[in-house]
Amino acid sequence: MPNKTQQINQQMRGDSYMSTDTVTEVVATGMPRIGDPAPDFTAVTTQGDINFPGDYEGSWVILFSHPADFTPVCTSEFMTFASMEDEFAELNTKLVGLSIDGLYSHIAWLRTIKEKITFRDMQNVEVKFPLIEDITMEIAQKYGMIMPGEDSTKAVRAVFVIDPKGMIRTIIYYPLSLGRNFDELKRVIVALQTADALSIATPADWRPGERVIVPPAGSCGTAQDRVEGKEDGVTCEDWFFCTKEVTEEEVYAAIGK
Ligand code: BEZ
Repeated sequence: MPNKTQQINQQMRGDSYMSTDTVTEVVATGMPRIGDPAPDFTAVTTQGDINFPGDYEGSWVILFSHPADFTPVCTSEFMTFASMEDEFAELNTKLVGLSIDGLYSHIAWLRTIKEKITFRDMQNVEVKFPLIEDITMEIAQKYGMIMPGEDSTKAVRAVFVIDPKGMIRTIIYYPLSLGRNFDELKRVIVALQTADALSIATPADWRPGERVIVPPAGSCGTAQDRVEGKEDGVTCEDWFFCTKEVTEEEVYAAIGK
């Protein structure tokens, strides 16, 4: 018999095992999905109260959770996020953190980071983006940030990328022991914005300046034109796999940078 977490995973994947308990728990967990509106909430943060996602309309947001204040992996992540805040701001992207700790713990931890911690070449780092207190776990539960198989009283390292209309566009989860890759988080923002602006898709490991994927042909005629090389600048490996060049400059112009 699978344990509760396995049962829920099976249920999410559509596997055959299902019990009434499982269904109830999945519904109660209510994990948001890509393409859903970001669940709304109001919260107390280190930068004052926020109304989410309403206060962030018109901006991209990275809403992320971390397991606990005063822990080393989280500290390294906060210093990295804080040192990249301007880079994200240039991409019209705001940062919002969350953990199941209280406001005074957050404040004390962020002061300690600034006063005492050096990580790589970062020191005297001030975290200026809001850090949500969520001692009731209400927001963490709403966003599916608690994974009981990993830890039932700490949020995992969840990342929700939310677009200017408040829609969830990417979800990434990391376990407690694994610090996030911040180049990847920035790459995700640039790739999503580029896909929106140019109506293209981005292939594996894509970086600005590399060829992008042209959406699949929607008719037999277009498919034929493509393989015959009739579409300007489009190169096809086969009718379903076509790419075109978009320079780095064109990417940044398209996303308004
Ligand atoms: C950390 O951030 O260092 C950490 C937090 C929870 C569990 C393991 C590591």
